[in-house]
Amino acid sequence: MILRNFVVFEGIDGTGTTTQLHLLRDRFQTETPVVFTAEPTNSEIGRLIRTFLKGKHAVHPDTMARLFSADRNEHLFGSGGIMELVDSGHAVFSDRYLFSSLAYQGIEGNSLLPERLNSDFPLPEYLFFFDIDPDVAMKRVESRNVDKEIYEQTPFQRIVRDRYLRILENTEKQHPDMQVIRINAEARIEEIAEKIWSIVRDLPKI
Ligand code: TYD
Repeated sequence: MILRNFVVFEGIDGTGTTTQLHLLRDRFQTETPVVFTAEPTNSEIGRLIRTFLKGKHAVHPDTMARLFSADRNEHLFGSGGIMELVDSGHAVFSDRYLFSSLAYQGIEGNSLLPERLNSDFPLPEYLFFFDIDPDVAMKRVESRNVDKEIYEQTPFQRIVRDRYLRILENTEKQHPDMQVIRINAEARIEEIAEKIWSIVRDLPKI
């Protein structure tokens, strides 16, 4: 199922999705019913995930897959969640969604589990995929000067990128109603912002 007025930004670490979502938020008129959100969320489950992303305590990769999908379930169906917002006429923009789980979680654990855990969730109407050379992306991450998270290693990110490309291709074939927009994440920030705005400026559509 495709959820109208639901927009997702995806990409490997360091592609600039968060920057673009901040710029986009500022472009909408204050009265426009748009909501910006992200995964992992700020819920209890999301916060638990973030402690594991820091790498101080290792958990089994399949546990991570299950935590991300539990966090997503709350994000969608919990009180004040995405479904409620879309039903009440909002457009919802999420920094990451189930494509992150399909790309990242299938690498280390049971490769079939992420698909199984995420197959019942609705798909977004628009999926923006930020593409970048993993070397460039990791340099950006390193320049942030904060402790790296467990997935932020170039060889791992290369695999994630390859998986994203394959997942996108398959999803596009199976769900032609979902619009996939590829963004060259190495382009100028303003140029990327313009491209995104030209596509989403009329949201939410009734
Ligand atoms: P990220 O968007 O990079 O958050 P921040 O910029 O605040 O650190 O997400 C954190 C990490 O979580 C990132 O490496 C991708 C990973 N992730 C998954 O592995 N699976 C998922 O389902 C999601 C939503 C994120």
